[in-house]
Amino acid sequence: MAKLRVVLTRRWPQPVENRLAELCDLSINADDHPLSRAELAQALRECDVLGATVTDRLDAHLLGTADRRTRLIANFGVGFNHVDKAAAQAADIVVTNTPGVLTDATADIAMTLILMCARRTGEGERLLRAGRWPGWSPTSLLGTQVTGKTLGIIGMGRIGVATARRAHFGFGMKILYHGRQQLSMLDETVFGANWHADLDTMLTQCDFVSLHCPSTPQTHHLLDTRRLALLPERAFVINTARGDVIDEEALAAVLAAGSLAGAGLDVYEAEPIVNPALLSLENVVLLPHQGSGSRETREAMGHCAADNIEAYVQGKALPNQVI
Ligand code: DGY
Repeated sequence: MAKLRVVLTRRWPQPVENRLAELCDLSINADDHPLSRAELAQALRECDVLGATVTDRLDAHLLGTADRRTRLIANFGVGFNHVDKAAAQAADIVVTNTPGVLTDATADIAMTLILMCARRTGEGERLLRAGRWPGWSPTSLLGTQVTGKTLGIIGMGRIGVATARRAHFGFGMKILYHGRQQLSMLDETVFGANWHADLDTMLTQCDFVSLHCPSTPQTHHLLDTRRLALLPERAFVINTARGDVIDEEALAAVLAAGSLAGAGLDVYEAEPIVNPALLSLENVVLLPHQGSGSRETREAMGHCAADNIEAYVQGKALPNQVI
């Protein structure tokens, strides 16, 4: 029987590509360039399974490609907001993701951003590399102590919980959280966490707020001008979720005005473009979407996506179907 044709839109970790090459008729994007819309449409016409990722904007127009052959989009990543859900459903395309395996790596980057923006380490490194460090002084580059401060988590799923753990047990932080579901009494006691059904009330109490909710029509610009104004001036905003949960223009404005202490961002509204207003600010740490970027995690994500492809090839239930 002919093997299913699988196209990977980007390079995946080598052991995963090797595994998929055994399993199916595999086509890879040898030089790892982000595929153009024309290339994505071609791939949708040619393959049974598209191994896609966050850099592929699979909107209704593309999913409606005439003579489309693709029936499964195996997404390399947990977030799948780059796939138009309604269009995929209408076209009878199934979508899977890679949950669980990137929890620790992403929580580590959230913690990295908390520490970096509070302690001004980006600024310090820029100063030193530019040859502008005049030497130590008791009052230079003073930051904010993280230990013992209050962290508000928006979205207490796996990554939110892992971040709360690090912050609470590692840095003695008090944890507040807002999300669809309240943790069990037992978990709340373990973290000393307090649920806030009302996000606005929580924001007024935060020294740091860290976003861990998915990008949906409901969470689009969740932190907008009005909500950013509820945060105390001493507060820092951390985003490792998706860019569009914050109104970037509004964030840049409050950071520039000094009505917010700082921000640590790993994700942006129009990746890979970063709002120039943010690029010019010293009090924001900007990372290039590195949340899940450890070798171990990216390999685990690849194997998780491959498990879904393998189940599809074998006609079994897909372990991580999200659409
Ligand atoms: C994820 O898995 O959602 C990461 O942000 C990469 O897309």
